[in-house]
Amino acid sequence: MKFTGKKVIITGGSSGIGKSAAKIFAREGADITIVARRENVLQEAVGEISSTAVSRDQKVDYRSVDVSDWEKVSEFAKEYGSDIGAPDIIINSAGISHPGYFEKIPYEVFQRVMDIDFFGVVGMCKAFVPLMKERGGHIVNISSIAGFLGVFGYSAYCPAKFAVFGFSQVLRSELKRYNIHVSILCPPDTDTPQLEMENKIKPEETKAISGNAGVMSPDDVAEAMINGMLKSKPVIVPGLNGKFVLYASRLIPSVVEWVMDREIKKFS
Ligand SMILES: NC(=O)c1ccc[n+]([C@@H]2O[C@H](COP(=O)([O-])OP(=O)(O)OC[C@H]3O[C@@H](n4cnc5c(N)ncnc54)[C@H](OP(=O)(O)O)[C@@H]3O)[C@@H](O)[C@H]2O)c1
Repeated sequence: MKFTGKKVIITGGSSGIGKSAAKIFAREGADITIVARRENVLQEAVGEISSTAVSRDQKVDYRSVDVSDWEKVSEFAKEYGSDIGAPDIIINSAGISHPGYFEKIPYEVFQRVMDIDFFGVVGMCKAFVPLMKERGGHIVNISSIAGFLGVFGYSAYCPAKFAVFGFSQVLRSELKRYNIHVSILCPPDTDTPQLEMENKIKPEETKAISGNAGVMSPDDVAEAMINGMLKSKPVIVPGLNGKFVLYASRLIPSVVEWVMDREIKKFS
């Protein structure tokens, strides 16, 4: 029971990687608050997560908050602080994606993806760090493989995930003095509703490139995340393929570009 009595907030906890993580935390004895927008999906997820809890005293509840709405996020933090206190762990998993050809993605989509995927993370950290400073804790911000590698078709998504990566590196360095650990999770393609939606609109080139890295289950990604947290890893990349891409993109970027360009050329 690694997280008995710990207070955990998971944005995007009603689906995919966030929900898988919530179930593991529940199995490990934590109190959990999941955050997302759709109330019916949140309620259903709370039922699923509660069924994995190991004690009657554990609390699993939800808040319907749009993480891109700073006022709502700071209101939520104030309420959480006075009702529950300081969280021990925050997992920022809420996110959206919109793959497509750069020229076909409307300008507003770039803004919306940035608002949710990046400013949603900034808002949660800004609202909750003041509460966490006294006791310390752990924040995990979910980026992506697309958070350190520019991938064809992700001109709206990559910049937001790169921003999460850079922001989290700074935060790791600044919050260490308060004993708040910050980790970045960079999952590869993961079998969730987000990927299902992406696959309907993804350019063929993107499919060909990401096909090389394979697909993981959200349970495996969440487990890798929690193992990485327990080792206080600053960057957690689940799966061997993902780790290979991280090191290759850092050490031999021109080879990685050559491999991606070779896939893309098949479609021109
Ligand atoms: N799946 C992949 O292949 C993959 C790969 C790398 C990284 N990631 C990242 O991993 C994270 C989780 O993705 P997933 O695949 O698990 O996605 P998912 O199954 O689609 O779940 C996304 C979650 O975020 C919530 N959400 C979306 N917009 C929100 C907003 N504005 N405010 C509050 N909650 C919001 C959704 O609920 P509501 O819609 O009800 O708000 C849902 O709970 C994301 O950051 C994603 O970019 C995913």
